[in-house]
Amino acid sequence: MVQQINIIDAKNHVDEEVKIGAWLTDKRSSGKIAFLQLRDGTAFFQGVLVKSAVSEEIFQLAKQMHQEASMWVYGTIHQDTRSKFGYEIEISNLELVGESEGYPITPKEHGIDFLLDHRHLWLRSRRPFAIMKIRNEVIRASYEFFNARGFIKMDAPILTGSAPEGTTELFHTEYFGRDAYLSQSGQLYAEAGALAFDKVFTFGPTFRAEESKTRRHLIEFWMLEPEMAFMHQEESLKIQEEYVAYLVQNVLDHCDYELDLLERDKEVLKRYTKLPYQRISYDDAVAMLQKNNFDVEWGVDFGSPEETFLADQFEQPVFVLNYPKKIKPFYMKPHPTRDDVVICADLLAPEGYGEIIGGSERATDYNYLLEQVKKAGLDPKEYSWYLDLRKYGSVPHSGFGLGLERALTWICGVDHVRETIPFPRLLNRIYP
Ligand code: 4AD
Ligand code: MG
Repeated sequence: MVQQINIIDAKNHVDEEVKIGAWLTDKRSSGKIAFLQLRDGTAFFQGVLVKSAVSEEIFQLAKQMHQEASMWVYGTIHQDTRSKFGYEIEISNLELVGESEGYPITPKEHGIDFLLDHRHLWLRSRRPFAIMKIRNEVIRASYEFFNARGFIKMDAPILTGSAPEGTTELFHTEYFGRDAYLSQSGQLYAEAGALAFDKVFTFGPTFRAEESKTRRHLIEFWMLEPEMAFMHQEESLKIQEEYVAYLVQNVLDHCDYELDLLERDKEVLKRYTKLPYQRISYDDAVAMLQKNNFDVEWGVDFGSPEETFLADQFEQPVFVLNYPKKIKPFYMKPHPTRDDVVICADLLAPEGYGEIIGGSERATDYNYLLEQVKKAGLDPKEYSWYLDLRKYGSVPHSGFGLGLERALTWICGVDHVRETIPFPRLLNRIYP
């Protein structure tokens, strides 16, 4: 019996006979030899079929098979110094499993709408393959990073009665005759978790009914939100930069093949593993922008062009600290000596990718928080459980949220956040 292997393990089977379950991505043939480009979900490589070495029937089968036909491939692994992958299979036998006539995604260029309409098939192509593998690595490394530092993963609900990040971007639904919303953030629940388990992180889908059609916005995106008890903002910033550098390092260490497929410059990525990242205040950021003829006044939130300009002034991601209170959510800790800013930070990624982390120290005083809940137009009854956290053993605590797809867009060096999630939900798209 020949051993069944995956393409990714070909290096361990040089000169051995193996069996691989694969799909055909492309093919080329002359009268005497056929080259089948194969993928099996773990990697892509070439199969070589020499007419004189196989039966006429097999050679004809190979020539007739369509793109994305599935098959069992039998043959011997060889080194292939001409390909980036480094190995190929010399095919001795083929068994067709599923034919595939008229596969819509041909090797020619397709428009983005066509590709998104066929996302269920587009996922098989090289570029989505590389991005999804890197996505998996970032998730894996995230769990590893936080588990190693004593955090436990605590799941937050998706159906909620609260709106931590503002009421305008809520998805409403009905909950047995009552109002409910899809979660915008697991943070408030993570805060309850931190007071129960010291250090926690949530990781799950979050929803924002944002009517923005930009390269950075998804309607449904995944957020990883750590929350730490007995911790001030400075210590949280240290964890944030260590975490981001760790993600980049692990992608460099484990996704070399995928970064090459995406033609991502690894030397640039290496810069992002050096710590610390710089910190500037919101005040300084406004001054920098004004000096460079941006039409911004103190008190406004930054848009994409402003964030891009600011990040361009630094070699690495940069923290912008202490934004105006009036543009930030109700739960942030007020500044000890200024009443116009809060203790928070956004981490801006270089190369025009914008904010990848938002975080803050949290308000701890019951009366202050109650007042902020009311000012935000929220119902104190709905937040009474959250206010309890300030009634029973309130402690300084801090946390942050990393937008997974934002971080991936940056690490992968792709243009649009929609490519970094398997099935993107966009303003005009909920199919497939
Ligand atoms: O800055 P945000 O809104 O912060 C929070 O939700 C806090 N509760 C986090 C916390 O302190 N626990 O969102 C956090 C991150 C942003 O920095 C961005 O990376 C990402 O989530 N994000 C989005 N990603 C894709 N599409 C959108 N529409 C996003 N909105 C935010
Ligand atoms: Mg934010």
